[in-house]
Amino acid sequence: MPPVISVHNLRKTYGKTVAVADVSFEVTKGEIFGLLGPNGAGKTTTVECLQALRHPDSGDIKVLGLDPVIQGSGLQRRIGSQLQESALPDRIKVWEALDLFGSVASNAQDWHVLLKQWGIDEKRNATFASLSGGQKQRLFIALSLVNRPEIVFLDEMTTGLDPAARRIAWDLIHAVRDNGTTVVLVTHFMDEAENLCDRVAVVDKGKIIASDTPHGLITSYATEVRVIFSTDKKDLPWLNKVAGVKKVARHGNRIEVEGNGPLLALVAAALVEHGIVPLDLRSEQPSLEDVFLKLTGRTAVD
Ligand SMILES: Nc1ncnc2c1ncn2[C@@H]1O[C@H](COP(=O)(O)OP(=O)(O)O)[C@@H](O)[C@H]1O
Ligand SMILES: [Mg+2]
Repeated sequence: MPPVISVHNLRKTYGKTVAVADVSFEVTKGEIFGLLGPNGAGKTTTVECLQALRHPDSGDIKVLGLDPVIQGSGLQRRIGSQLQESALPDRIKVWEALDLFGSVASNAQDWHVLLKQWGIDEKRNATFASLSGGQKQRLFIALSLVNRPEIVFLDEMTTGLDPAARRIAWDLIHAVRDNGTTVVLVTHFMDEAENLCDRVAVVDKGKIIASDTPHGLITSYATEVRVIFSTDKKDLPWLNKVAGVKKVARHGNRIEVEGNGPLLALVAAALVEHGIVPLDLRSEQPSLEDVFLKLTGRTAVD
C-alpha cells in the first residue's frame, strides 16, 4: 500500500534554533503513528509542516498525495487537526463551535455523536471559557474529527486529562482508526505511545533516532528485565552474583535488580536461600521508557 504520508529530509529553523534538523518517515493508511520525544524535540514543528501550517526550509512532503507547501487548502479539507495550543473565542458555546466547524466541512459528521463519545454532552451549552482543561482538550479532539478526516493529527492529545479520561481517549482513538482514519499522534508520554501506536518514531533534537513498532523498539534497545522487592535487610552482596544480574539499586527499603535471562526465578531462589521472602516480589518488563534511556542516556522524557 502506498504511504499516505511521506517525509524526506524535512528541515525547519527559527532563526538560529534548529527545530527540525533532518526528519524522514512514512505513514501507511490505517496506522496509528506516533512521534514520541521530549519537549523541544521538534515534533510539533514537524506535524505543523505536514498540515500546511508552516513552511519547511527544505525537504519533500507528501500528505494524501498533496504537497502541503503548494496545495495547503485542498489538504486541510481532508485532514483533522487538534493543535497543541488551540484556542476558541471565550464566549462561544460548545455546540456552536462544533456546528461552526461542521458547517465549513463538505461531509461533516453529526456532532451530537461526537459530543457523547467524548463525554462533553452535558457541556453542550457551556461557554468555551467555562470548561475545565480536560473538557477543552476533549472538545478540541471532537472538533478535529467533525470533517471526517482521512488523517487526524493529534498533538499532546491527553495533556490535562485525568487518568480515567486518558484511558477513554485511547479507546476512542482506536475506534477512530478502526473506522478507517489514519492517526498521527504527537506525545511526550511513553506509556501513551506504547499503548496506542502501531509504530513509533522516537524524536530527539530535531531528528528521528529510532523507529519501529513499540515491541520492536523494546526488543532492539531494551533487553533488560527489572526485578523489584522490598526488604529491611541492609547487606545483600550475594545479589550481584546471581546469574544474569547487571545492577542492584536500593531506594530505601525498595531493591531494584536489573539484568537479563530468567531473572525473577533466579532472584527468587537466591532470596529464599538467604531467608528473605518478600511479599511484593515482582518483575517489570522493559518499556519505551527504557528504550529512551538507552538511546539518549536520559531517563525521563521531560
Ligand atoms: N514559532 C517559533 N519560533 C521560534 N522558535 C520556535 C517556534 N516554535 C518552536 N520553536 C523552537 O523549536 C524547537 C522545537 O519546538 P517544537 O517543534 O514545539 O518541539 P516539540 O513539539 O517536540 O516540543 C524548540 O526549541 C522550540 O523552542
Ligand atoms: Mg509540541
